[in-house]
Amino acid sequence: MKRLSGFSIWLLFACSLIMASCSGSGGSEEEFELGAPIAKQATDITSSGFTANWSRVYKAESYLLDVATDIDFTTFLSGYKSKAVSNLNEEITNLDGNVSYYYRVRAVSGSIVSDNSNLIELTTSFEPDPDQTLKNSSDNFLIGVALQSSKLNGNYDEIYKREFSSLTSEYEMKMNVMHPSQDSYDFGPADAIVDYAQENGINVHGHSLIWHNSTPDWVTNFQGSDQEFEDMIEGYITTVVTRYKGKVTSWDVVNEAFEDGSGNLRNSIYRQRMGDDYIAKCYQFVRAADPDVLLFYNDYSMVSDQTKQNAVFSMVDDFIARDIPIDGLGFQLHIQYDYPAKADIEAAVQKVVDRDLLMHFSELDIRVNPNNDLTSLSQDRSLAQKAKYKEMVEILKSIPEENAYALTVWGLVDNESWLINFHGQQDWPLLFDSNFEKKDAYYGFLEGLQ
Ligand code: G3I
Repeated sequence: MKRLSGFSIWLLFACSLIMASCSGSGGSEEEFELGAPIAKQATDITSSGFTANWSRVYKAESYLLDVATDIDFTTFLSGYKSKAVSNLNEEITNLDGNVSYYYRVRAVSGSIVSDNSNLIELTTSFEPDPDQTLKNSSDNFLIGVALQSSKLNGNYDEIYKREFSSLTSEYEMKMNVMHPSQDSYDFGPADAIVDYAQENGINVHGHSLIWHNSTPDWVTNFQGSDQEFEDMIEGYITTVVTRYKGKVTSWDVVNEAFEDGSGNLRNSIYRQRMGDDYIAKCYQFVRAADPDVLLFYNDYSMVSDQTKQNAVFSMVDDFIARDIPIDGLGFQLHIQYDYPAKADIEAAVQKVVDRDLLMHFSELDIRVNPNNDLTSLSQDRSLAQKAKYKEMVEILKSIPEENAYALTVWGLVDNESWLINFHGQQDWPLLFDSNFEKKDAYYGFLEGLQ
């Protein structure tokens, strides 16, 4: 056997030292970088719990789970501050519904603890108690629905009384119905709606005194002078507003006075006969007839049509400067499940609040089939609609209470929505289905009110 030289022996000893320090077998704790887990989306989310999930980490022996009710992890869920867990998930129970929770995880190997994982946020499902309704869940603003005098019974009656604190006539408090000829008024349908509201302690929002689309032919063909035309309009407004004084809380005095895409005043018969300032004159007529009624201007595309929005707010600012009475704006909000964006809606609403006016989401319906790609309401489109209704409620809830007037949905049941005839295609835009059953949209609305 060949004898080793002194150098060789030294070399072997040095290598063994180096290997010992690398392999960790030199008796000291192995030093290595322990990776942080990747927290994954929560699963099995219910109104009382969820399952937290995360990835495996090489060499981890266990994990430490933090669950908190705030994103900064200052308020931990009892028992979930660095809770040791050996699996890659943890079921968390006995929670409250409609509450946001946050979780993050660290890996452990011996005495080594990794950095925190990313954080995951989730909100437990909302499970209303059976006594909750839309109107008794809203402290900030009225919950309205558009209706017709021929539908005040059966399921309509039951739901109106249970869920709504405000009513808007879908078409029977417009000039072409109430004032069908120069010598006649027909208040039958309007009286039926107002009397029903009075009997049931429900607010009435009047819609709408002046609208180019509900102008009776006799007005369009009026043969008198311009002054006689103006006197006739003043007489009509005074007659109607006086009749419902103390019963109708608010009126859309003028509806949709501006053109799409240009912001110009529509060249309606009212403008032609009374001049560009006809809108201001109508607001003054209403105020003269009823010193207490709230005066609204109402229009559509107030979020998406910047030119129209600018024109309306210019008019409002002019009214404020000239002391022309106006109390609020109605954004009709005939929108889609995916449009307009929340930020754009909030920006437009803020302009109402900045002027200290009342905000009425006056004709809300949310199309789920704008591109006609559905033949029935799919679950994912229904859930998207639910989220949008919740979003709309949250936007109105977020403004100062003194500026939030009402949120009115434009109809009760899907199959009776004006949208179906207007667009000539299927859609399911409202809160109740054709069997008067609550949809996901209803629960999204209710969730937004919490
Ligand atoms: O109920 C009667 C029926 O008995 C009669 O046989 C039939 C034929 O004359 O008419 C039916 O009434 C119709 C009513 O809708 C109910 O369907 C009216 O003629 C018709 O004019 C009325 O249309 C209304 C429209 O405004 C015009 O007033 C829609 O319901 C209503 O949704 C729509 O609402 C407007 C808002 O006022 C302003 N913003 C846009 C919105 C949609 O166009």
